[in-house]
Amino acid sequence: MIKHGWAALALAALVGCAGEPQPPAPTLDEAAVIAASVPIAQSFQAELKAQLQAAIAAGGAKGGVSVCQQAAPAIAAAQSEASGAEVSRIAAKHRNPAGGVPDDLAQAYAALAAAPVVEGKPNRQIVQTGEGADARVHFLSAIPMQEQPCSVCHGTNIDPDLKAHIDQLYPADLATGFQPGELRGALLVSWDAARFLK
Ligand code: HEC
Repeated sequence: MIKHGWAALALAALVGCAGEPQPPAPTLDEAAVIAASVPIAQSFQAELKAQLQAAIAAGGAKGGVSVCQQAAPAIAAAQSEASGAEVSRIAAKHRNPAGGVPDDLAQAYAALAAAPVVEGKPNRQIVQTGEGADARVHFLSAIPMQEQPCSVCHGTNIDPDLKAHIDQLYPADLATGFQPGELRGALLVSWDAARFLK
């Protein structure tokens, strides 16, 4: 028994010395990515929805359009500053021409589109891109279409006057015709991957 044990040890030492010593590949701490990203996604959604509803109540849907145009990037910028992440919204059928889905996130986005809500919560995906100093970790949280207040500006039956106003601001608007429950877009929280590699 003892002899056998020594032999195994010697073999292990041999194998260990055979090549250059390789540090173990760092692994992504997904739980930490989720813990850091979920509160950002939740507060973004809650804050934007509150501002939208208040603006629509005060100034009608047209007032809501300018809030959405200015409030969404402002909330994203404030959250980026506070967290060190890059916070933005992406969508396959987007209104803001800058808000398309990057190629390396297309697969994750398709997974969200296939199931926007899982167990009553927005579905989510984690994607790692780049290498070395450029390595990034992307957290995508589904934004499901809701009847209220979303349909007013993204639904199947938008008031023609409002639609004309939207078209003036976004001549290439793709973000209409959504049914409640469909994927409207995703909130994207992107981090320096080094923060979560261990
Ligand atoms: C008052 C009109 C209005 C309402 C109501 C509204 N939106 Fe929007 N939405 C807009 C406008 C305008 C933009 C483009 C904003 C910009 O310039 O970034 C937009 C952009 C978006 C985007 C970013 C991707 C894209 O298409 O450019 C998402 C995601 C989105 N809306 C989801 C929602 C959801 C979900 C709701 C309901 C909670 C909602 N919106 C309600 C007007 C509205």
